Amino acid sequence: MCGIVGYIGTQNAVPYLIEGLSKLEYRGYDSAGIAINIDNQLKIFKTKGRLKNLEEILDPNAKSVIGIGHTRWATHGAPSNLNAHPHLNQSETIAVIHNGIIENYMEIKEWLIKDKKVTFKSETDSEVIAHLVDYFYEGDLLDAVYKAVDRMIGAYAIGVISKDEPNRLVAVRKDSPLIVGLGENENFIASDIPALLKYTRNMLLIENDEFVDLTKDKVTIYNSLRQPVEREVFKVTWDIDSAEKEGFEHFTLKEIFEQPKGVKETVLRRLNNKDEIVLEGVNFDAEILKNINKIYIVACGTAYHAGLIGRRAIEQFAKIPVECDVASEFRYRDPFVDDKTLFIAVSQSGETLDTLQSLREAKRKGARILSIVNVVGSSVARESDDLLYTWAGPEIGVASTKAYTTQLTAFYLLALYMGKLKGSIEEALYKAVINGLKTMPDLIQEVLDKGHEIQKLAAGQFNNEKVFFMGRGVDCDLAYEGSLKLKEISYINSFAIAAGELKHGTIALIEDETFVVALATQEKLYDKMLSNIKEVKARGAHVFAIAQAGNDQILKTSDEVFFIPRTMDELAPILAVVPTQLLAYYVSALRGNDVDKPRNLAKSVTVE
Ligand code: F6R
Repeated sequence: MCGIVGYIGTQNAVPYLIEGLSKLEYRGYDSAGIAINIDNQLKIFKTKGRLKNLEEILDPNAKSVIGIGHTRWATHGAPSNLNAHPHLNQSETIAVIHNGIIENYMEIKEWLIKDKKVTFKSETDSEVIAHLVDYFYEGDLLDAVYKAVDRMIGAYAIGVISKDEPNRLVAVRKDSPLIVGLGENENFIASDIPALLKYTRNMLLIENDEFVDLTKDKVTIYNSLRQPVEREVFKVTWDIDSAEKEGFEHFTLKEIFEQPKGVKETVLRRLNNKDEIVLEGVNFDAEILKNINKIYIVACGTAYHAGLIGRRAIEQFAKIPVECDVASEFRYRDPFVDDKTLFIAVSQSGETLDTLQSLREAKRKGARILSIVNVVGSSVARESDDLLYTWAGPEIGVASTKAYTTQLTAFYLLALYMGKLKGSIEEALYKAVINGLKTMPDLIQEVLDKGHEIQKLAAGQFNNEKVFFMGRGVDCDLAYEGSLKLKEISYINSFAIAAGELKHGTIALIEDETFVVALATQEKLYDKMLSNIKEVKARGAHVFAIAQAGNDQILKTSDEVFFIPRTMDELAPILAVVPTQLLAYYVSALRGNDVDKPRNLAKSVTVE
């Protein structure tokens, strides 16, 4: 989704803005632009397409000590030069960048056109902000932004500059991420930490309904009542290198290979020397847990798929009924949430608006909120009672990979922890799962070491447009994830199905050379999967199976088999997802796609 950056200081803002925007490219965008102040005139450079297109139209002599920049992911109006941000008011005295959606923009726009005779240049909702700020401007930019925001309904992170106050940058946040970077004689705003990490590690995390007034040597945060707010400086400890490719061709591949490390961090930070689970940030005890009679896991996309497996783990180990919902649906089915409900939000970015809004709805109804989140200090993290970070490190590739395996790991830990608190898990099972989790990093590495097998398979199948994933039990949940990964980066119309459901309709689609990925890692369901594989083989499918090492019978029924190292059935998805990720990656790369930034997608989905 859109990315915003802003600079105010003593240096030329342009390189800072371009560098910052380049670090936000991963969020997904289709146009980009900057606004700077040259000789007391606001000058805009903006264009459809990638940042390199923007760099081509920049005036190399353009210099300014203040500026705002934006990458746009089109919602209102197609990707175009005119719809790109920044937007100006009519007399070109105010420039605005915006991430989010102004829901009542039509009403404001009509009023501005009819009563104020304003002419609009773009189809965007965001342009109304520039005209509204202008309408209220009486020499104090902060005051005008307060008044403009008062008229707006929706989600926003906004940056505004005025030609008449060349030493001031104003920003405001509601439901879209915004951070401030603190430098020496310079300050910054951005949507996300990587944009600023080259310049500072000292950040201020801006909360909802807060306004920020920046000059080159001062940053003041105000709440909605215009009272100054104190904010502790958030020091970023991770390194810029973890947001670089380090020799890998794509971030996605690098992140797939970082999974042993991410899983190791997520597990080992939580075990003491007696192998007891210590969940810093999870604040409930046995007494509180006793009161919980149901759990909702709510998330989107890949995080939702992790939730499906989390549901099984919690029900098995902690014996509490769990429902798992996609966040965009959860709020609209009037779920039975009350003060006996534990609501678990799962999100890599911690900014996904549907997940956040579901969380807020559950909170309003009295639920306790626990979140499994990767980005430290993100909105979901901040609005939760209990917090379990996945220590995956920054995930830049749009397709979620290492976030998924660390989310699964976090779920197993949480389920075991709750099982222990409740006394609902047998000691032997607890120990087996803990030991299994400890071996995961090495076993994932073993899988990665056989990545060439998948590369070869991809070379034979990358043009096959008919792909199905199927599995039973936990493999069915995994099939959804494998299929999503393939479709989002290869653009192949793949889909996933519970293998037992095939006969109830979908098998009609199987024909010669349909590529079927059969997940068969579950011992107890292995024979049934063999039958399903035979069914599709009999209809001409080309079957690629994933099974546990030693289950050789599957070699007879499948065209290719990838063996994962032996492990408990429950933990197999952490290993079995890896060949599906590699398959998606290699197929996408062979088709010449932009693997890290697939078309139409955004890393952080901050609109509903
Ligand atoms: C798929 C993918 C998305 C995200 C989804 C939720 O590879 O990345 O499906 O999983 O948009 O995002 P987060 O986890 O940031 O809430």
